[in-house]
Amino acid sequence: MFDMDIGIDLGTANVLVYVKGRGIVINQPSVVAFEKKTKKLIAIGQKAKLMMGKEPENIEVIRPLRQGVISDYTVTERMLKAFIETAMQKKRMFGRPRICVCVPSGVTEVEKRAVVDAAYLTGAKHVDIMEEPIAAAIGSRIDISLPKGTMIVDIGGGTSDVAVISLGGIVESNSLKIAGDDYNEAIVKYIRRTYNLLIGEPTAERIKMTIGSVYPREEPVMMEVKGRDLVTGFPARIIVSSEETIEAFAEVTAQILDTIHNVLEISPPELVADIAEQGIILSGGGSLIYGLDKLVEESTGIRAYVGESALEAVVVGAGKSVNYSNK
Ligand SMILES: Nc1ncnc2c1ncn2[C@@H]1O[C@H](COP(=O)(O)OP(=O)(O)O)[C@@H](O)[C@H]1O
Ligand SMILES: [Mg+2]
Repeated sequence: MFDMDIGIDLGTANVLVYVKGRGIVINQPSVVAFEKKTKKLIAIGQKAKLMMGKEPENIEVIRPLRQGVISDYTVTERMLKAFIETAMQKKRMFGRPRICVCVPSGVTEVEKRAVVDAAYLTGAKHVDIMEEPIAAAIGSRIDISLPKGTMIVDIGGGTSDVAVISLGGIVESNSLKIAGDDYNEAIVKYIRRTYNLLIGEPTAERIKMTIGSVYPREEPVMMEVKGRDLVTGFPARIIVSSEETIEAFAEVTAQILDTIHNVLEISPPELVADIAEQGIILSGGGSLIYGLDKLVEESTGIRAYVGESALEAVVVGAGKSVNYSNK
């Protein structure tokens, strides 16, 4: 029997699980649905996310890791346990795994302890917590052991984390509780203000992913949006353009850019010189919004690019780090 090693990205929007030798076996939204009275689990992941905004009174659908902190401790534990158990079953192995978990940067020491305990409860032999920017860098194929500065900007659902890494450690960093989910909220507000139309968060997220932009496109794109007219109370539809989303997103985007500038300003000049040469690496789902790379580049004067598989970098990095420690 062999040991099975597992890397986990416990994100505010998505949980990913990487199993050594098998790759990513789980990639599901961090959403849980349960019955209110009995607290019985009804659905986890994608199935639960589809229930959002459509649930009857007796069912509660929650995202236990909103805004980069664990807002619901018990539900987070249950969700993590369920995902680890599924990942282990898929491998059909009974050895006790070594697990490496990445948690959002805003998570406190007490919450980290709870995550570690939950992972041990699934039968793990050893549990490590890894800092996300380090995992994101490893997952983006950066050799972090070198005495060379690398800047990683991870824009997740609830937090944007900017870090400068050198010699395997974080030199400077800053975390902002504003990220991908705030873009959704900005769209909801913009459409209500501009068109008197109320839309739900899933619709806002679809707009963001389809036409959402933070930088002008060569050709603007349009999308039809359905919601409820706030004046008549009836269903209504409008056409939204990508140019409008730039306006709707401006405030959120400005805060992310400010955080990047701030970390560049406080970083040692030698490392900033390295970053200028290597470029700024973007990761996380939020970095996939159209034009963010261009905008970061324009506002810093440093080349910026979305790293390889932005949504998977953290879990792959966590998985690989487990591999290293196993040699
Ligand atoms: N193609 C895309 N365009 C814009 N935003 C996206 C895209 N794909 C995912 N996102 C956004 O990325 C965020 C989730 O990113 P992720 O890195 O999984 O977050 P976390 O690490 O917090 O779980 C969500 O806000 C989601 O809407
Ligand atoms: Mg993340």
